[in-house]
Amino acid sequence: MKFDFSQVLDATLPAPQAQPWNGFPTYNFVGGHNDAGSLPVDKIADACHRILMREGATLATYSVESGPQGYLPLREYLVKKLDKYAAMQCNPDNILLTSGSLQAIDLINSALLPANSSTRPTVIVEESNYGGVLTRLRSLNIDRVAISVDNDGMQTDQLATKLADLKAKGVKPAYIYTIPTVHNPTGTIMSVQRRQHLIDLAVEYDVPIFEDECYADLVWAGTRPPALYAMDSTARVIHVGSFSKTIAPALRVGYVVADWSLIGQLLSLKNDAGSGALEQMLLAEYCTGHFDTHLAALNVNLQQKLATLTTAIDREFGTSAEYIRPPGGIFLWVKLPDGVDTTVLAERAGKEGVAVNPGVEWSLEGDSNRYIRICFANPEPGIIDEGITLLAQICFREFGVPEVGGNLLR
Ligand SMILES: Cc1ncc(COP(=O)(O)O)c(C=O)c1O
Repeated sequence: MKFDFSQVLDATLPAPQAQPWNGFPTYNFVGGHNDAGSLPVDKIADACHRILMREGATLATYSVESGPQGYLPLREYLVKKLDKYAAMQCNPDNILLTSGSLQAIDLINSALLPANSSTRPTVIVEESNYGGVLTRLRSLNIDRVAISVDNDGMQTDQLATKLADLKAKGVKPAYIYTIPTVHNPTGTIMSVQRRQHLIDLAVEYDVPIFEDECYADLVWAGTRPPALYAMDSTARVIHVGSFSKTIAPALRVGYVVADWSLIGQLLSLKNDAGSGALEQMLLAEYCTGHFDTHLAALNVNLQQKLATLTTAIDREFGTSAEYIRPPGGIFLWVKLPDGVDTTVLAERAGKEGVAVNPGVEWSLEGDSNRYIRICFANPEPGIIDEGITLLAQICFREFGVPEVGGNLLR
């Protein structure tokens, strides 16, 4: 008789997947994927060939002789890149390479929010936020304090009030998590003044800052404010980054930059015998000569796709859709009229092959049920156009808005 695993699986586990994966939806506006046409496949293949011919035999040992922090030439490349793009001063010993930045996030949470902690930890996060972080925080036994985000990033006046309230209750947060440069999902970039205010408050209340810079290179203007890590002089910023959005998410290469007193702890928690070395090696080989030109071209392509998306939204939704055009990134955070339940919309649209993220999955509280997050990097322009047209039709059928599309009454 077949063994029934459900009898040994704990009821507190997340709900299992109903069935094996059966492919991407036709109109795929979720998942934070990259632009396939921008992927430098030939140059990556050359880099891979070169590095394998030169150093392939080092794959015979765990960590390819670079130790558990990851392939040393990639860490050395990152030291230069982070200086050039984010004004950060660090050295290879401050960097831990991880299997995607999600592994970095998990390691940091394991270190700062230990499961067997005697007191229930509190973290401060931006109210609208990356779904992957929110699901992680929800699964931990912790308190979350939300701070609103506006066009200048996290509202630090609100942060000041919340920190004072927490202090009055004797609570010291485990960290302040922020996505300062191209925030997910709003796309905003935190101003330098807000960055300074955030650091000042973190120093005053003696709290670490957890800076997630997943999208920081995808800024159309080509320049960005310094990273919080660069502005802070007290070594309290934990900086997390990724090659997912600049090169390819399936490579699964991310990193943490922090003071050794934290990196050393993360290393003892990262007991996976090392992240995949070949992808780290080919990234070091490829990025050293080509990253800057690749990034400039990628940003042009992404900006064009954003234009395709906003043209389609303006035509199909008209004044029913409100958004702030982001200065970079791969997604648009769109507000729909009162009465539109975007959780229902996402579910109905999903059945017709249009996948969008409903606001509640990308938000801790607030009126997020009127928002959807639309990722535009991966679908081709024709698919973006068709998908938005179909989404507007479904929205009209379910909620009676938008009444006008493409200048025609529906
Ligand atoms: C803000 C943010 N942080 C981290 C990640 C995780 O990225 P990865 O694990 O691919 O590096 C994502 C992915 O979309 C993200 O949006």
